[in-house]
Amino acid sequence: HELAISIDEIEKAGYPHFMLKEIFEQPRSIADCMRGRLNVENNSIQLGGIEDVMDDLVNAKRIVIAACGTSWHSGLVGEYLFEYLAKTPVEVEYASEFRYRDPLVGEGDVLLVISQSGETADTIAALREAKKRGALVLGICNVVGSTISRETEAGVFTHAGPEIGVASTKAFTAQVVVLTMMALSLGKRKGVLSQDEMSKFIKELSKIPSKVEYILEHNDESIQKMAGLFTYAPNFLYLGRSYNFPVALEGALKLKEISYIHAEGYPAAEMKHGPIALIDEMMPVVVIAATDHTNEKMISNIEEVKARKGRIISIMNDENSDVMDLSEFHISIPTTNDCFSPLLTVIPLQLLSYYIAVNRGCNVDQPRNLAKSVTVE
Ligand code: G6P
Repeated sequence: HELAISIDEIEKAGYPHFMLKEIFEQPRSIADCMRGRLNVENNSIQLGGIEDVMDDLVNAKRIVIAACGTSWHSGLVGEYLFEYLAKTPVEVEYASEFRYRDPLVGEGDVLLVISQSGETADTIAALREAKKRGALVLGICNVVGSTISRETEAGVFTHAGPEIGVASTKAFTAQVVVLTMMALSLGKRKGVLSQDEMSKFIKELSKIPSKVEYILEHNDESIQKMAGLFTYAPNFLYLGRSYNFPVALEGALKLKEISYIHAEGYPAAEMKHGPIALIDEMMPVVVIAATDHTNEKMISNIEEVKARKGRIISIMNDENSDVMDLSEFHISIPTTNDCFSPLLTVIPLQLLSYYIAVNRGCNVDQPRNLAKSVTVE
């Protein structure tokens, strides 16, 4: 037993929890995911695992993404990425809904399943259903040799390394990196992206690991302090737009999972159709305001929250004084291309939920009622 404990301690590498270790591993896990695939010198992306099906992807009228939990959120980011970078329509489905809906997929369709473990029962069932109906079934998986990695016809591994904490962190960012690389190479093949545009995207994507590192170095302490002030809250609202709408969902999920605080993620503009009724001086509202092309709109959403005395915590780009002035707390992150923004904005949200859960004395790595991989229905 003692030996088991010490092995556990060794594996945590000095961190109090696996989750914190995995959050801090992200500069490396993201770089690992890009290694040998993203090539800045010769301006190319090579994804060996899907090379053989590239023509099918080019010809696909649409891609259906099926997943659960955090992987479903990365799928939503994927929808924005594929539609913007490759002009391929995407539908994102909860695997559990897809499988029981007599889904309209068949030959000529591509089903892309996303799963960290590769063992989620509903996701496996969705892939089997689509395969049976003649769709091409692709996967994005972290665990090599998993059921999903074996049963899909082609796919890309995330190479994020083992993820132990039940709340997914580094697997999410690696999934988004894979989706980004897939969307970019598809966009190039389809002629949607010029060589020039491609080169700008590739250069910027290659800078993401160091930007994540910067966020972790410069914000960890302040987020920890801020978390202390919000540990009381029974509810949280997360708002985002565009690429950062799925990040709002993911931030809320992280908080729910490990701190047992009720949290909801919403597209910022939808707030007026319901959640705005909940806002008062007790309500923390996390706004993800780091997407340039919706910045003005986001500012008016923040003003609406402020007018109702909500406590605003903003994730924003450096020097966005409009957002800063409206916020009780702000977390500044480096700028990047809008479509890579989720890879940066999710990092402070992971840390915020982690520190709030620790303050509340929760079992961060093994939250009650949750399993790392849900192999039953
Ligand atoms: C469980 C885990 C989540 C995960 C989800 C999907 O609910 O607790 O962290 O996102 O399953 O898992 P998968 O392995 O398919 O990504």
